[in-house]
Amino acid sequence: MKFLNGLGWGFFVFLAIGVGIYPWFYVLIDQFGENALLASKTPEILASQIWNVQFYIHIFLGSIAMLTGWSQFMKKFRNKNLNFHRTLGKVYVIAVIFSGLSGLYVAYFANGGIVAQLGFSGLALAWLFTTSKAYLTIRKKQVDEHKKWMLRSYALTWAAVTLRIYLPLFEGVLGMEFITAYVIIAWLCWVPNLIWAEWRIKRLAI
Ligand code: HEM
Repeated sequence: MKFLNGLGWGFFVFLAIGVGIYPWFYVLIDQFGENALLASKTPEILASQIWNVQFYIHIFLGSIAMLTGWSQFMKKFRNKNLNFHRTLGKVYVIAVIFSGLSGLYVAYFANGGIVAQLGFSGLALAWLFTTSKAYLTIRKKQVDEHKKWMLRSYALTWAAVTLRIYLPLFEGVLGMEFITAYVIIAWLCWVPNLIWAEWRIKRLAI
């Protein structure tokens, strides 16, 4: 299943790699600059060793999920390199499990209050659920079901991309306050992605 063609696919891969490598530059970026996430955190959260460990597990393993996921949808490449597909798939699943669990933890402390915290928590739970289903179905050799769950899972991984597209649009174009935009985007970054995946599954009749 390759769900985009030509230019669309190139743009999709470009964004997946761009956002996927972003966490590896995290140490180089001014993390306490005006717009940086860490600058918005309370001294208590920043001093918490658990939060810090969970946060970095989340962003680095999220990066692995983002970078490994896209190539798995290339049918020809997959069929020619099934063992590679299986190995990379296991790396993806492990990365999502750990990034998802730590994502659930950091969601509890997310900016934007309860609505944003619930949005990110819902995303983490949906990510863990769809990815587990994708793994369990392929263990049972249910290839079509596996494809559907993987499409849902990776559509959720893409929340990291859509969030970074919406945020500047909401702030820059619509002139919205960061925190108002963040609360909306905590949901908007993943619910439409999931709806898109369902639509795609129906249209492709996988
Ligand atoms: C799909 C499930 C995901 C969930 C539930 C999730 C959740 C979160 C949460 C709650 C935060 C902290 C927000 C705050 O404290 O206000 C965060 C930050 C972050 N996440 Fe994720 N995330 C997910 C996917 C990813 C992926 C796939 C990546 C890989 C690129 C990623 C990279 C990051 C980064 C780099 C930050 C720091 C943001 C910044 O510097 O502004 N996340 N995530």
